[in-house]
Amino acid sequence: MRSLVILGSTGSIGQQALDLVRRYPGRLRVVGLGAGRRADLLLEQVHRFRPRVVALADPVAARRLETELPAGPVVLAGEEGMRELAGWPEADTVVVATSGLGGLVPTLAALQAGKRVALANKETLVAAGNLVMAAARGKELLPVDSEHVALHQCLRGEDPAAVRRIILTGSGGPFRTLDAPGLARVTAREALRHPVWKMGPKITVDSATLMNKGLEVIEAHHLFGVDYDRIEVLIHPEGVVHSLVEMGDGSVLAQLGPPDMRLALAYALFYPERVSPPVSLLELAGRTLTFEPPRLEDFPCLRHACRAGRMGGTMPAVLSAADEVAVERFLRGEISFPGISRVVGRVMEEHVPGPAASLEEILEADAWARRRAAEVAGE
Ligand SMILES: NC(=O)c1ccc[n+]([C@@H]2O[C@H](COP(=O)([O-])OP(=O)(O)OC[C@H]3O[C@@H](n4cnc5c(N)ncnc54)[C@H](OP(=O)(O)O)[C@@H]3O)[C@@H](O)[C@H]2O)c1
Repeated sequence: MRSLVILGSTGSIGQQALDLVRRYPGRLRVVGLGAGRRADLLLEQVHRFRPRVVALADPVAARRLETELPAGPVVLAGEEGMRELAGWPEADTVVVATSGLGGLVPTLAALQAGKRVALANKETLVAAGNLVMAAARGKELLPVDSEHVALHQCLRGEDPAAVRRIILTGSGGPFRTLDAPGLARVTAREALRHPVWKMGPKITVDSATLMNKGLEVIEAHHLFGVDYDRIEVLIHPEGVVHSLVEMGDGSVLAQLGPPDMRLALAYALFYPERVSPPVSLLELAGRTLTFEPPRLEDFPCLRHACRAGRMGGTMPAVLSAADEVAVERFLRGEISFPGISRVVGRVMEEHVPGPAASLEEILEADAWARRRAAEVAGE
């Protein structure tokens, strides 16, 4: 029986994690739930899953929730509350499914408390990869992103020194075949219609700009200790091959599966055990699988991310923070689709990266990038 804390339980990944709790009774139970500000949805989840403790990042929403729950559970608030929830003694596993950098402090707290961390929140690894990997030494940090779960499976039992290159696949998003003038006209509504995956708004837009793939390159570098020269991206519109590893002897290992995050979540929660599948099996007969290189000229966010990764230090935190702001502005209709890469590129140009040796330094770079991105977006 695994005892879970789910951070970001009201979001797309969080709700799928709760779906697994329903599907594997006796194997998974909920100890704690945390979210940003959606108190109503969290309240419904409290009634359904009976956690011992809940937390909301927004203190006002947390107070409202507390008045609705006079008989418990414990209601925590703010960043301190999220940190306490992540280290809650009764839990052995923490699913970090918050969006944005809000996942960083709880991830570090969960690792320090010796929990298994199932990490969906990619911004955490992008912004603070070295710090997180140092905190994870000797602990259990399992990826939840489907590409990294694929790589984790391909690399199971393999000598890391025998890896020639890692190939991350991506669907290419809804605008894969649009030319530059077409990309300049796309709306937020169109960007939110992903052809393969159903996800939260930020990652859906990131998938459309290919920033998501770039963030995943940085994630893969940290998780698997592979340098950037040996990480490549291939567009695979069918979304069935979740990533590949080329070994030193020329063999290419791939992991295939239906595009459903519950498979990746179940892998991270039950590893090393392989449980019965939570979704229907993949039918391969009659399928055509295609691969093509990414169009870097028309999707510069992927290039920005790879550059930020190679530069290292505080640059990936700046990339990620500027992107969060730019995506928000795009969703509000304040900047165009190509405006996202323009904002990120400009903020990166102005940043002189520091070593990212401490949490404070990373949070400072993050705050600076958010401020500058808001200014550049307003120009
Ligand atoms: N969705 C996918 O298929 C997918 C796949 C791979 C990786 N990921 C990664 O997983 C993470 C979550 O993605 P998502 O699509 O599930 O996002 P989402 O649907 O937008 O959900 C985000 C969740 O985080 C909560 N949250 C926001 N700020 C918070 C804070 N400061 N402290 C605690 N909780 C906070 C939100 O609470 P409220 O609802 O109260 O605002 C919500 O529960 C992202 O980093 C994403 O890149 C997602």
